[in-house]
Amino acid sequence: MISYDHLTKIYGEGKDAVTALEDVTFTIEKGEVVIFLGPSGCGKTTTLRCTNRLESITRGKVLVNGQDVMDMDAVALRRQMGYVIQDIGLFPNKTIAENIAVVPKLMGWDAKKIAERVDELLSLVRLEPELFRSRYPAELSGGQQQRVGVARGLAADPEILLMDEPFGAIDPINREQIQDEFLKLQERLKKTIAFVSHDIHEAIKMGDRIALFTNGRLVQYDTPAMLLTHPKNKYVADFVGADRALKVLGIVLAKDIINPRPRNLVKGEDPAGDVLKMIEEKGLRHAIVIEQGKPIGYVSPENLKYEQGHVRDLVEKYPMHISKRTPARDILSYMLMLDLLTLCVVDDNGDFIGTVTYNDIQKKVKESYTSDVEMD
Ligand SMILES: Nc1ncnc2c1ncn2[C@@H]1O[C@H](COP(=O)(O)OP(=O)(O)OP(=O)(O)O)[C@@H](O)[C@H]1O
Ligand SMILES: [Mg+2]
Repeated sequence: MISYDHLTKIYGEGKDAVTALEDVTFTIEKGEVVIFLGPSGCGKTTTLRCTNRLESITRGKVLVNGQDVMDMDAVALRRQMGYVIQDIGLFPNKTIAENIAVVPKLMGWDAKKIAERVDELLSLVRLEPELFRSRYPAELSGGQQQRVGVARGLAADPEILLMDEPFGAIDPINREQIQDEFLKLQERLKKTIAFVSHDIHEAIKMGDRIALFTNGRLVQYDTPAMLLTHPKNKYVADFVGADRALKVLGIVLAKDIINPRPRNLVKGEDPAGDVLKMIEEKGLRHAIVIEQGKPIGYVSPENLKYEQGHVRDLVEKYPMHISKRTPARDILSYMLMLDLLTLCVVDDNGDFIGTVTYNDIQKKVKESYTSDVEMD
């Protein structure tokens, strides 16, 4: 856990004084990824550097696991935190493997363990160990060097990670993949991470919470969903973008809008006539046919009119189903492509667990507009 308690940082003195941070208060809970977001010069890097005491603190406090960093040994403090710096800062005269191994070596790991760890981390950041471990930084592209920087930050398996725009110089395709790998890793390791970005997409994707700064002040500290749906003021709304309703679609998952007990479920053995009557009485558009727990398709009045027999023989099949973790953005895209207003959510077994409808998505997105009236 990292707590910033009225943190203020002023560089220089007198007429040259620059207030880089002013009265910043928030807490990064253990195991959470918090994104420091905001335009250039707003104080993101300074906040990180006050965390591991690379900068002195003018006023206020930084507490790591409840302990004031100013009372801690600076070297010990830095060793328990991995730091990925903004301008990478690899040692030019050390190989890639030696660069990654710096902290493990300081901590006295044996050579075999270090070598294994180096290769593991190189693979993680998608650099083939065989090709890269013996090269020097100058022989790598900027994006590749940045990935080595990330590997180095992770090397000694620190509990806390400070990452300053760790993926900023990596091309979009590799960046997506590294972000995904990183999130997978984080799900397992549950590190406490302060992660600087000025990319709102990255922030929404990677952050459990986002700390949005402007001019050294913390403007809003919230979950990505809250930042998008309840921006505190016009600055936040502008920062997250006019398309924030669409961005909400990326973080809302099927499980957030699922209807586990829709009114239009029928069984395969139900007679067509009964189902037609039920559809008409309830004013539905269609019914979903479930057999042995699985959705086998849907029937609408057109399928049932003048038909006898069981609905199982009259269904139109769904081209696909979705899972609990499918983002609303993808669901909406499937709905548009398939010309369907409802999709079934199934578990790993293919068993029916609910539906998501176009209306459910719309209702959820609509929330992102409600806050406009509250804004100052
Ligand atoms: N050593 C320094 N001396 C004086 N002013 C500094 C120093 N370091 C940073 N600043 C100033 O403090 C403010 C915050 O800088 P900081 O590096 O924290 O910004 P940032 O949010 O990380 O920006 P960027 O996105 O460009 O990296 C800026 O106005 C910057 O010019
Ligand atoms: Mg910076």
